[in-house]
Amino acid sequence: MASRELSLGFLIEIMIVHPISTADITKAIALLRSGKLVAFPTETVYGLGADASNEAAVRRIFLAKERPYDHPLIVHVGHIAQLDDWACDIPASAKQLAQAFWPGPLTILLKKQPKVLDIVTGGQATIGLRIPNHPTALALLKAFAGGVAAPSANKFTHISPTTAKAVQEELGSKVDLVLDGGNCAVGIESTIIDMSGDHPTILRPGMITQKELTTVLGRPVLLAQAKATKLHAPGMHHVHYAPMTPTLLLAASHIPAFLQSLAQAEWPVALIMHSHVELPQSNHIHRLQLPPQAVAYAHDLYRTLRSIDHLHFKRIIIEAVPDQPEWTGITDRLNKASFRDKR
Ligand code: TXA
Ligand code: MG
Repeated sequence: MASRELSLGFLIEIMIVHPISTADITKAIALLRSGKLVAFPTETVYGLGADASNEAAVRRIFLAKERPYDHPLIVHVGHIAQLDDWACDIPASAKQLAQAFWPGPLTILLKKQPKVLDIVTGGQATIGLRIPNHPTALALLKAFAGGVAAPSANKFTHISPTTAKAVQEELGSKVDLVLDGGNCAVGIESTIIDMSGDHPTILRPGMITQKELTTVLGRPVLLAQAKATKLHAPGMHHVHYAPMTPTLLLAASHIPAFLQSLAQAEWPVALIMHSHVELPQSNHIHRLQLPPQAVAYAHDLYRTLRSIDHLHFKRIIIEAVPDQPEWTGITDRLNKASFRDKR
């Protein structure tokens, strides 16, 4: 599959540029065991990790992120066998997904074991589990042996960090250690699939698509609509992943007229394109070009948004992406990034 081939290339780059030492892992494990917070790279985005069985440690995640307690955390593990430590009544189909996609950018929701702390699951009956595909994350999780609760390592509603530097900018001294694993290969958060009910349902689309999940399961996989579920998934909270700068999503054909309609006070604008449509040149328009392929686009998206969010543009305008299955996760994030402007 194209996306996996590309990811492998990125992983090799990460391993060369950012070799992780045993000493770093040992230090991280000691911190986790003493209830501290360790940010670590995954293939999707950086996570802010704490020992999932230590209530005080998990509480520190919510405080550092300023995140409401009713938003549950994903528990990251190093081995598929650990599923049984955290979940019960696991359907064979969920194990099939784990075998097919882990380590990888898929979070599986299952019925939780009674011992799982309420602070981790937001008091819900389910738990989200994932084995991330990043050498540093895997080394950490395998050595830790327990579960690491980790949301994205950003302040609540901000864009998820895809570099160690972005984690530092977001959380500063609120995190006890940041493991630097280079740029995240996938670049947007994992696909979340709920396997706790009768019908497999995607709660948050990502780079593992509905079609890939359907193919492995051999039966339909639903795509949850925000209003149709009471569960708290990030897809359900519209102002997630938002830049500070007002952000607008526009079809390429509408961009020229929109630019023309802007008054003097509304300049300058940043324009994120992936197609090569010609637009009027202007000193007030800072055009950034993202790749036209979904996998490469996702890889660059958050880093690009973050890089322009501090530059005092009056607006960010993003060219709408193709309405095709491999773009579903990206469309979801772009809708959220631009939501404030739609209200
Ligand atoms: O790629 C990812 O998933 C990254 C990396 C670090 O693994 N993590 C991540 O975590 O994006 P977070 O917390 O920023 O987003 C996960 C979302 C939460 O906002 C929560 O709403 C949803 O997953 N979630 C977690 N457990 C859940 C549960 N038991 N039921 C419903 N939704 C859940
Ligand atoms: Mg998040």
